[in-house]
Parts: sequence; C-alpha cells; structure tokens
Amino acid sequence: MQDQDIISVTTEIVGDIALVCVDNPPVNALSVHVRRGIQDAVAEINAAQSAKVIVLYAAGRTFIAGADITEFGKPPMPPALPDLLNEMEQSKIPVVCVLHGTALGGGLEVALASHARVGIKGLRIGLPEVLIGLLPGAGGTQRVPRLAGIPVALDMSLSGRQVAAKEALGMGLLDALEDGEPRDVALRAGQDALDGKIKTRRTDLIDTTPDDAALEEARKMVARKFPNLVSPQRCIEAIAASTGPISEGLKIERKAFMDCLDTPQRAGLIHAFFGERAVANIPEKKATPRDINAVGVIGGGTMGSGIATSALMSGLSVTLVEVKEDALERGIATITKNLEGGVKRGKLSADQRDQMLAQLTGATDLAALSDVDLVIEAVFEQMEIKKEIFTKLDAVCKKGAILASNTSYLDINEIAAQTSRPEDVIGLHFFSPAHIMKLLEIVVGEKTAPEVVASGFALAKRLKKIGVRAGVCDGFIGNRILGHYSKTASYLVLDGATPQQVDDALEAFGFAMGPHKVGDLAGLDIGWMTRKRKAATRSAEERYAGAVADRICENGWYGRKTGRGYYVYDEGDMHPNAEVAKIIDEERAEAGVTPRSFTDEEIVDRYMTAMISEAARVVEDGIALRPVDVDVVFLSGYGFPRFRGGPLHYADTIGAKELVRRIETYAKEDAHYWQVPEILRKMAETGKSFDDINKGG
Ligand code: 3HC
Repeated sequence: MQDQDIISVTTEIVGDIALVCVDNPPVNALSVHVRRGIQDAVAEINAAQSAKVIVLYAAGRTFIAGADITEFGKPPMPPALPDLLNEMEQSKIPVVCVLHGTALGGGLEVALASHARVGIKGLRIGLPEVLIGLLPGAGGTQRVPRLAGIPVALDMSLSGRQVAAKEALGMGLLDALEDGEPRDVALRAGQDALDGKIKTRRTDLIDTTPDDAALEEARKMVARKFPNLVSPQRCIEAIAASTGPISEGLKIERKAFMDCLDTPQRAGLIHAFFGERAVANIPEKKATPRDINAVGVIGGGTMGSGIATSALMSGLSVTLVEVKEDALERGIATITKNLEGGVKRGKLSADQRDQMLAQLTGATDLAALSDVDLVIEAVFEQMEIKKEIFTKLDAVCKKGAILASNTSYLDINEIAAQTSRPEDVIGLHFFSPAHIMKLLEIVVGEKTAPEVVASGFALAKRLKKIGVRAGVCDGFIGNRILGHYSKTASYLVLDGATPQQVDDALEAFGFAMGPHKVGDLAGLDIGWMTRKRKAATRSAEERYAGAVADRICENGWYGRKTGRGYYVYDEGDMHPNAEVAKIIDEERAEAGVTPRSFTDEEIVDRYMTAMISEAARVVEDGIALRPVDVDVVFLSGYGFPRFRGGPLHYADTIGAKELVRRIETYAKEDAHYWQVPEILRKMAETGKSFDDINKGG
C-alpha cells in the first residue's frame, strides 16, 4: 500500500457533532495520509453539511506530536500542511480541537488554525521545531502572536520548551481545560460549542499587538546564545512579520522554513534526534531486564555522589558505601547539595528532596550491599583496587545482583574474571556531573548476560539518560577517541598555534569550549596522571604530545581549581597564561620545531580528521555498534555541536575520499599518528557513507 492510501483519519457523526479522529501511532505525526484525511473530512462535512460543529481529536497516547520528521528531505507530498490549515481555518463549520498528551510543532499548529482549543489535563504544548533546525512552518509564527502575543511566540519557538496546560490556558492558547478520555471530552466540547459555552473564532482575523522591544531583545539573545544556528534568527524574522496581513506573514514564514529545511544544520539535528532513539536498538533488546529498585554505590567522591543523586532522583533507594566515616559524610553532603541544586533550579520541590534523602543510607562496610539489586562501583581508577572490591562483592551480594563498574577505561573482562559470576558484571560509565550529564556508556564484557545488558538500558531510561552500548577496550567509545584526537590540539600548539587560537577556532566551529579550556576545567592533573600511567607502554615512534601540559602541571597549575592553567582565572576574568607561552617557546626550541602559522580552518580540519579517524576505527573494531552510536556519545557526553550531528555524520558531509586525502597529507609530517583506517579507505573506494553503514549497508 502507498503511504497516501493509509486510512488514519475517521469521521463519526453524533447528532450535530462531527467527531474527526486522527489515529496514526505511535505519536500521530502528520504524515501525508493524516493531512489528506483531515482535508477530506473537513471538506466532506462542509459539502454535506452533515454537522454544525467539527471536533478534531486523536486516539492513542497523544494528540498530534508534529509534522512527520521522516518526510523531511524527501519530495513534497500534497497537501502541504500550511495549505491544509489555511483551508481548515476558512471552514464554514467551526472546528474545535481537543488536545491530550503532547501537542507539538505542526500538531499545535493544527490546533491554532482551528476555531477553539480544549486541553485535557496533563497536556503539554510546544513548538520544538528550532531543536531540529527548523521553525514553526505551518502558521505557528503567525497564529501564536495573534492569540497570545509576540513575547509568548518568541519564548515558545526559540526555547522549544513544553508548556503545561494551565500555563497555556493563561497564555490564551487554550480556551478550556477538561478532564477525561479524548472522545468523551470531544463530544462534550462539541456540545459546549453548539451551546455557545465555548466561543469559536478565526485566529487569522485577530491582529497581533506590535512589540519591537521584545523582538530586539530576542535578536540579541539569539546572537549571544546561538551564534551558529540559522533557524532561531529566521524564526524571529517570521514572528516580526506577524503584525502585518497574515497572508504576507505566512509567505515569509514559509520561505524561512523552506530555507532551513535545506540546511546541513537541519540534517544534523534530525540525525541527532533519531540517533538518540536508534542507540536503543541493541542485540539484547528482546531480553527481559532484571528488576532494579535498590542500588548500592561504592565511592562518595564527585562521581559516586553524582551517580547516587541520579538514582535517588529516579525514585531508586541508594546505599552509599565509603571506607571511612568522614568520607561517607562528605559523600552524603555532596548528594544533599546536588539535590538542593535541583530545588534551586526549580526541578524538585523541597518535599521531593526530603523524600529522596529518606531513601539514602550510608555504610562503611560492603556487607551493607547484601540485598541490593545493582551495585555501581565508582572508586579510584586502579585495577588492583577494583579487583579487590569485586571479589568482596561476589562474596556479599545476593544471587542475580548486577555488579557494575563506573570505570572510564579499565578492562571489564579482567574485573569480571575476579568473580564467580562474570555474566552479572557490566560497565556503567557515567559522565561528570553524573546527575546532569545525559550519556551512559553501557560496556558489555565477553560474558555479560543479555538480560544484564538490557537492564543497563532500562536503567539508563529510568535515570533519563541515553544509554549507548560499547565494547571493551581502553577508553571504550568516548575516551578512546578523545585520547587520540586530543593529541592534535597539543601538536598544533607545539607546531605554532597558541592554545587560545585552537580554542577559539573550535568554539567557532561549535564546541561549547575549546580543548584547553576543557582541560583547565576538568583539571590538568588528570591527563598528567594518565600520561604517567601510559609512559611505559608509549611507542617509541609516537611523537610525545604532553610536553607542554606536563610542564604546566609541574608548576602546580592544574587549571581552574588552582587559578592557573592554560589560562589565568582572576575573579571572573580569564586570560591566556603568559608563562605558558614561555613554556611553549622552550618546548619548541627543545624539539627543534620552527613555529609556523595555522589558519582556523586548518586547525578545525586537523582536529576533526583525527577525531573521525579514531571514531572510524572504533566502528571498525566493533566497539561501537554503528557510526550513529559514536555520534550520540559525542553529542551527549562530549559537548559536540549538536547541529553538526556528531563526528561521523559530519564526516559524511566531508566525504571519505577527502578525509583519506587529508590523512595522507598529514602523514607526510607524522606517519605514526596519521594512519588511514581501513574502513575509511574502503568507503573512499566504494563511495559508501557512514549513514549507509547505519542503515545496515
Ligand atoms: N515524526 C516521525 N516520527 C516521530 C516523530 C515525528 N514528529 N516524533 C516521534 N517519532 C517517533 C520516534 O522516532 C519513535 O520512533 P521509534 O519508536 O521507531 O524509535 C516514536 O515516534 C516514539 O517517539 P519517542 O520514543 O520519542 O516517544 P516519547 O513518548 O518518549 O516522546 C514525543 C514522544 C514527546 C512526541 C517525542 O517523540 C518528540 O519530541 N517528538 C518530536 C516532536 C517534534 O519535534 N515535533 C515537531 C516536528 S517539526 C514540525 O512539526 C514542523 C511544522 O512546524 C511544520
């Protein structure tokens, strides 16, 4: 059957009321058959005069959640949503929309073009288009200002936030709020409209109140917060046009929408949207997860406390174990502070915080974990310590308990071999601060049981995190790739760029912070320790990247926490550390390097090519299931610019041939570091893209 022929909209006549129901699971997206179904239903009811009011509602878990995103980038299929909504607005028979669940994007725009809107309790409305590189493209920028004013239109469409029903009622975007099942509410709403209890009116006949100050403020905010994004600017342009005739405003909106549809940003952001869902598609997805209610966390440092906070916030009970009483107290204090932060940010009520804290127990003996369903070990990164802990856990934990390590690079198989139950052992790699960062790398050992993997993914969902499956290797997906490409930043500095130039170039590319600023923030001592740990295994052919950073650390400058690193931090002020410039000069002289200049473009090209090379090897080695898994790791854990879709989506925009050419050029300077991954060479030969591999090619 062709998409167009699917029947997803049905009409039921009850007295003078025509109930039009949209049923397009899972989220009632406005696919071509839904658009056509609504168009036909409204036209037929008008032609036959079969009712005095039309009530549009949806079946299933939600009202229409927006345009069908899978149709973007494909040839258009009529009717276009804006045309359909203009027709609906002109309907002689008034249309009332009954909304439940999440009425988003095009879904909300359907409601705005109808003649009255009734929400069902629990409803959330929103215009999230900007989050996928677009703007409301079916009248949202014209009809929200008419109904609720320019400031509301700017707020909703630039933030993409979901607005709760009560707030929407206050804004004037809903006419009534009801309780009940969508069909029952639809019948009542129809009757209320017939009785004049709900007023119906055409949105296009309302004038927008001008508000130049709000528009100006929004322009400044967008320039400051989203300098790289196209769609927020275009969205403001369309909203500004809402004070004129609606036909003109709709034209400006349409043009802006179509322009945005054509941008790589839209493709990158939609890749990110579907990628975050695709990573749940794992070989173990049919296995039944084990029940997890009680969690043990070993280690009350920043990481352990963050993990415990995250678990408490998801309604799990937590036993925190530390070796000594004072460390335990510090851990509990950190968790309390984290939850307090949630209260301050309005994420939690004081009552919720208290209930969560009541679910927290502290202990100084691993025996306290005898009854928990899952243990997450988050102690110092030393194999010997981990082994000792897992031996003890094997002795005290109940049968079926999942034993997880939060290690960021150590061998899970070696840890698992320490127990009599390697099938229960898994890596759960959180990112700091663990109660905020979205990413959870789920590291699957040779013997990890499928239901333990499935439990890891169920846990990620419960913690509102994005779980990505990773295989065992030094650093798994994210840190392995980071370990490789971060050397490029150091080489660039050794060869002639300044740390600030490297940071500025990568920030202009879209990273929230350049690598030297990140190093200062995370603590330069961490990398220093790693370099010392790996010194013995470093290949003689490898060009040493840590010379400058080692010297900085030798001075006791570990970054922000010591007030000095690559930059100097002075009461809110930050400027490059002049002493570091001297160290760089000395190290260049020592290595016999004559400094040369790099353009910002060269900096980005080298950095990204190194990242892509190692990412390709991670896919080639099967450490990541698919290229998209690497993308999601970088988007959710490493501050990779979302609008670029992730390193391997970005790689497709460059093409394998060009990447191979670049690597071969750089290899003339350093053949050890710059090696063409086999997979990339094959892709260059066959013309295959990473996206083809995502699709199973
Ligand atoms: N189009 C196509 N598929 C969609 C979709 C959409 N708009 N929204 C969700 N889906 C798919 C998801 O990919 C997922 O598919 P899968 O099961 O195969 O992985 C399935 O529907 C369920 O989605 P979620 O897993 O996200 O379900 P949740 O219950 O967690 O969330 C939701 C539901 C809040 C509706 C969330 O899916 C969402 O935010 N969707 C996107 C909404 C959006 O961006 N709308 C605007 C679209 S652009 C637009 O409308 C342009 C207009 O102005 C012209």
